[in-house]
Amino acid sequence: MAAPKILMKRGLENPESSHTLDAYEEAGGYRSVRRALDMDPEKIVEEVKASGLRGRGGAGFPTGTKWSFIPRDSEKPTYLVCNSDESEPGTFKDRWLLEKDPHLVLEGMMICAIAIDCRLMFNYLRGEFSFPIKRFQAAVEEAYANGYLGKGIFGSDYDLDVVTHYGAGAYIAGEETGMLESLEGKKAMPRNKPPFPAIEGLFGCPTVINNTETLAALPWIIENGAAAYRQIGTEKSPGTKLFSASGHLNKPGVYEVDLGYSLLEFIEQECGGVRGGKKLKAVIPGGSSVPIMTPQECVGAKMDYEGLRERGSMVGSGGFMVIGDNVSVPACLLNLAHFYAHESCGQCTPCREGCGWIEQLIDRLLDGRGTQGDLDRILRLADNMAGGKTICALADAMAWPAVSYIKKYPHEFAELCVEPVDMDALEAAVAAHAHVLP
Ligand SMILES: Cc1cc2nc3c(=O)[nH]c(=O)nc-3n(C[C@H](O)[C@H](O)[C@H](O)COP(=O)(O)O)c2cc1C
Ligand code: SF4
Repeated sequence: MAAPKILMKRGLENPESSHTLDAYEEAGGYRSVRRALDMDPEKIVEEVKASGLRGRGGAGFPTGTKWSFIPRDSEKPTYLVCNSDESEPGTFKDRWLLEKDPHLVLEGMMICAIAIDCRLMFNYLRGEFSFPIKRFQAAVEEAYANGYLGKGIFGSDYDLDVVTHYGAGAYIAGEETGMLESLEGKKAMPRNKPPFPAIEGLFGCPTVINNTETLAALPWIIENGAAAYRQIGTEKSPGTKLFSASGHLNKPGVYEVDLGYSLLEFIEQECGGVRGGKKLKAVIPGGSSVPIMTPQECVGAKMDYEGLRERGSMVGSGGFMVIGDNVSVPACLLNLAHFYAHESCGQCTPCREGCGWIEQLIDRLLDGRGTQGDLDRILRLADNMAGGKTICALADAMAWPAVSYIKKYPHEFAELCVEPVDMDALEAAVAAHAHVLP
């Protein structure tokens, strides 16, 4: 197990006060941003690039590379948006950071702002986060009161302000361009790309959008250097990652592990094993959108970007869900389909219609009225949704579970059909749509 090193390090021994400025500074907080103020901004970008830090919001895009797309010669202001919407089912690690260590998030935001010459940054928090919002806002007020935000931060000539923005509880507002629309006061309808936010983002200005956990890793990287960061994790997936573990586990919770950690050890050692003497039936390692893993696929699996891709799944947002053998996989898929059908913003036909139809078809199966033809229809619908056919990846986030659940648990779906299923034909149909999976 990784000893918590980066995100859970500072001042967390005392959970009653870890969110306060005193506790944060006692544990070394706000040293890195002072250092960043003395650095050439481009050097900060280079350091983050060299660290190999990848975005923790889902896609795993290299953070320093994303920042390097921000034009240095633009006459427009540059904005930073911290993505604290955290609406991916099964994911609750950003909430943990905002509640326990809001100054860490704030310091990370400041470092990113300095690197991209941003003077006004935003944190977009999901509206239901009433307690994390309270904690984050209190940290903002402490920072202003101490001259860490506002005019001339930390006694420098750098002015920096922050806006705490509350969403209204839409999953799609977590998608970065949907978030920009929402911040501009409109419905969170994702935008076609290009132009990418780095060129035309918030109010048409260059904008970086990073996940809360991504930004929270920055103080450690600036304090200890990229080379030290690369010592943790694997060569291609450096650093640590927060996984929010839930489901049939004895010790659900938020855990920080070195990337590359063994998945089965994580379940046994950190999470106390599968709950109530149940057998492991499945793992969804990275939030509801990623493909499901069978127990066989979990054997030898490593919790990093490459390791989980090798096993046909993804790190995603780190929402690690464990499913015991008393759970129906088709029922899980219905639950997800209901969510995605509800959350689709409706701009793209494959997503709007596809999510709804998949929900109805699984509902019919679970109601004892489904046929093998319905399973084929689900696979065909998923094929029409995935792989860049829509404005954003919500459609893929429905298609991947649909295909992977049927592929990996075909008998559970077959058993629900009114007439016997030709398993060879079902297998062939799954194989014909295997390209849908990432
Ligand atoms: C439907 C949808 C929902 C998303 N929700 C979130 C979210 O709640 N939080 C988040 O950080 N990223 C979310 N993302 C990913 C963001 O679009 C974006 O990639 C991310 O915030 C970039 O930050 P990172 O590079 O630090 O990961 C979502 C993407 C999609 C397609
Ligand atoms: S894929 Fe779905 S959620 Fe995304 S923009 Fe299109 S309709 Fe909206």
